[in-house]
Parts: sequence; C-alpha cells; structure tokens
Amino acid sequence: MKIIFSIGILSLIVISNVYGFTCKNDGFFANPSDVHTYYQCSSGVSYLISCLAGLVWNDTEKMCDWKTVDPITNCENSQQTNCYKTAGWSTDGTIIVGMDSERGSDSQHLSSPLGVFVDTHNGNNVYVADKDNDRIQKFLGSSLSSGGITVAGGNGVGSAPNQLDGPVDVYVDKDENIYIADYGNHRIQMWPKDAISGITIAVRNDTSHGVNYVTFLYSMFFHEKTHTFYLPDYFHGRILKFTNGSNNGIIVAGNNGDVSTFNSLDGPTSVFVDDCETLYVTDSGNCRVQKYVKGASQGITVAGGYGRGNNASQLNMPYSLQVDKYKNLYILDTYNGRIQRWGPNDNVGVTIIGGHDFGNAANQLMYSYSLALDSEGNIFVSDLGNHRIQKFNILPETITC
Ligand SMILES: *[C@@H]1O[C@H](CO)[C@@H](O)[C@H](O)[C@H]1NC(C)=O
Ligand SMILES: *[C@@H]1O[C@H](CO)[C@@H](O)[C@H](O)[C@H]1NC(C)=O
Ligand SMILES: *[C@@H]1O[C@H](CO)[C@@H](O)[C@H](O)[C@H]1NC(C)=O
Ligand SMILES: *[C@@H]1O[C@H](CO)[C@@H](O)[C@H](O)[C@H]1NC(C)=O
Repeated sequence: MKIIFSIGILSLIVISNVYGFTCKNDGFFANPSDVHTYYQCSSGVSYLISCLAGLVWNDTEKMCDWKTVDPITNCENSQQTNCYKTAGWSTDGTIIVGMDSERGSDSQHLSSPLGVFVDTHNGNNVYVADKDNDRIQKFLGSSLSSGGITVAGGNGVGSAPNQLDGPVDVYVDKDENIYIADYGNHRIQMWPKDAISGITIAVRNDTSHGVNYVTFLYSMFFHEKTHTFYLPDYFHGRILKFTNGSNNGIIVAGNNGDVSTFNSLDGPTSVFVDDCETLYVTDSGNCRVQKYVKGASQGITVAGGYGRGNNASQLNMPYSLQVDKYKNLYILDTYNGRIQRWGPNDNVGVTIIGGHDFGNAANQLMYSYSLALDSEGNIFVSDLGNHRIQKFNILPETITC
C-alpha cells in the first residue's frame, strides 16, 4: 500500500475541483466514475490516485485489490478475457528478510527457507517454512521488513506437539489456522490460530510402500474448498490426494514410472489445484508443467516439454507454480534462476523475473524454492540459496479489464 500511495501521489496529484469531488473528511474514498482510481482527502484537499496495474479500488478494504472483473468460473469452457496477459513486475526484488544472504535464526534471518505462503484473506501476511530453524515465520503484510514472528515450532528440532522437524511448506486458512508439512516427522500438523502447539492431522503410514507412503516431501497444496490436501510424491512420480485428514492417500496423477509419457511424472515437486479441481503439476525431471482436468488420468503439457534448457519454450527443474484466475501460469524455473509466465494457450513462456544467472543481486535468484502472489499481484519468492525472501512489485500498466 505504501508504494501505491507514494507513486500515485507523485505522479497523479489533481486538485479536487477539477473532478468535482468534495472532501467531507480526510481519508480514502471511491471514485464513483472509475473503479481503477480513488480519492485521497487530506486537509480538505482531494487527490485523484490511480491504482497500479489496473487494480480495482475496494472501498471496504480501502485498498487497491488485484481484483479486476471476476471471471465467471466455467469448468467446461475456460475462455475468458485475460486481464493479466501483459502485467509486468519490477526487475529488482525487495528483500523482506535475509538482507545479507546468510543463514541465521533471529527475526531478520532464515535458514533454508522453503515454502512461502501469502494469506490474501488476512492483510497479505507472509508465512515461511524456515526449514533448518524448525519453525514457521510470519511477516506482517503491513510491515514486511520488520522481522519474522515465530508462529509454529521454534522449540528445537523434535516431534513433540510444540516442535517441528524440517518443515517444508505452510498454508494458512481463512480462520488463520496454520497447516504445516512437517517433513522430518512425516506428518501434517495443524496449529490453530494463536496456539502454542500443533495437532497431527495426517501421518505417513510406514507399514507399507502403499499409496499413503510419501518418499520425499517437497511441498503441499491445501484445497480449502474441498478440505483436501495434495502432496507431490517425488520418488514415486505421482500426486497423492488426502481427503479431510485421512491417512490414506489416493493417487490422482502419475504412478507410471519416471518417464515422460502423458500419464507419467518424473520427480513432481509441486501441485496447484484451481476451483474446478484442475491439477497443475511441476514435473521437474521432465522440465514441464502437466495439467490434469478433474478426474483425468492423462496429463496435458501446458508449459515446457522441450527438454531441459533455457530458451522460451523450455524449463530447467521447475519447482513451484501458481495459477491466477485467468489461468496464467507463474512458474518458478529454478535451475534457470527465473520466473516464467505462460498464458493459457501459449507455446512459449515470458521471463517476468530473474534470468540473470545465479547470484544474490536484487535481480537474481539462486536455487529459489517457491513463489506466492499477494492480492495485489506482487510476487514473493523463497530464495533458498540466498536464505532470503524477495518481493517483486507488480508494475503499472495501461490495459485494464
Ligand atoms: C472488497 O473486499 C472484501 C473483503 O476482502 C470482499 O469481501 C469484497 O468482495 C470486496 N469487494 C469488491 C467489490 O471486490
Ligand atoms: C472432516 O472430518 C471431521 C471429523 O473426521 C469432521 O468433523 C469435519 O466436518 C470434516 N470436514 C469436512 C470439510 O468434511
Ligand atoms: C497403514 O497402512 C496399512 C496397510 O495399507 C493399513 O492396514 C493401516 O490401516 C494403515 N494405518 C493407518 C493409521 O492409516
Ligand atoms: C527451444 O529448444 C527446443 C529444443 O532444442 C526447440 O525444439 C524449440 O523449438 C526451441 N524453442 C524456441 C522458442 O527457441
């Protein structure tokens, strides 16, 4: 918000009378004639300010939302105007934690950050699975750089209810309960809001190498609508779905060997599930993204699939992805040190972040592990090799929907 206000004020100050907006009191107000702008009243003077990137003013939240016209969710036919087709992001990231790229366990450091999650329901608070510190750190959306607050774990490595052992991913529901993929303990923990310990909602069943046995946990996707979570099972080349806390997974994709056929996955690292229960999987060994419509046993390649490499149609070990409501894919192309956007029917990707070799400069990534988008469209990256979290701001654009 601070950034939006300052840029807006610098570039778009307009005296009230021109637009006939009368300030009754100080604050922020909707512009009745344009959803993409709003008025700020200060000492009785009104300023017309544009929301960045075609964002829409939300008068309830008093902020610009990454909410254009909500597309109609039609699971049979996904044709819709793509409002984010041309969106761009700042070249340089802002470091919210891990400024010196060093490991550490104080509030300004992390040690091997893996999953990053943005709670778009609650002020864009950012959560990080701080693996080697065996804790989950929370960064307030309103003061991102003020340091992390430990909200789960942080009590040494172990399997007690108040401990974690190498957490790899985190998800927070609408009620701010925290779900953690607690890798070393082979369990999914749920820490209710403000709790000082967690409850195990699923464990790995070690008695067999059956469908509930996840060999190597890279990430977790929690589908709140169906109260289901999905785990990519890296070494078995498959995606498992666990319904409402059951210890027994159901295979929903892969399980056909580490090959590159349409029904196999080779080292899946993450999964994203949309409102239509369409699965998108980063098939890292095959350097592609596979899409499975609900119930399908065969995947369709929607990004990559041209071998390992760094040209526009290739990927190199994609580790994580997000999908927006217009079905644009944001793919963390880890070994290429970049983030690629693929539109719904694109044959090539566009580099929107990074692509400048590995390193710790503001425009670089190094073995980055996961990405998340906030409600304004800013992108957060867990930059594992640099033990930092980078934020890339969405830029203004002229196209609005
Ligand atoms: C404004 O934000 C609130 C709270 O997130 C949400 O319920 C509401 O739908 C939003 N309004 C619009 C017009 O997007
Ligand atoms: C999940 O299961 C618990 C108990 O097993 C039940 O109380 C709860 O309603 C279920 N939730 C959903 C969303 O199905
Ligand atoms: C573990 O797996 C075995 C064999 O598939 C099954 O019989 C048992 O019920 C499972 N236990 C749990 C706790 O899910
Ligand atoms: C990228 O490389 C692959 C493999 O050599 C090739 O098939 C493809 O046409 C190239 N794509 C672009 C956009 O250069």
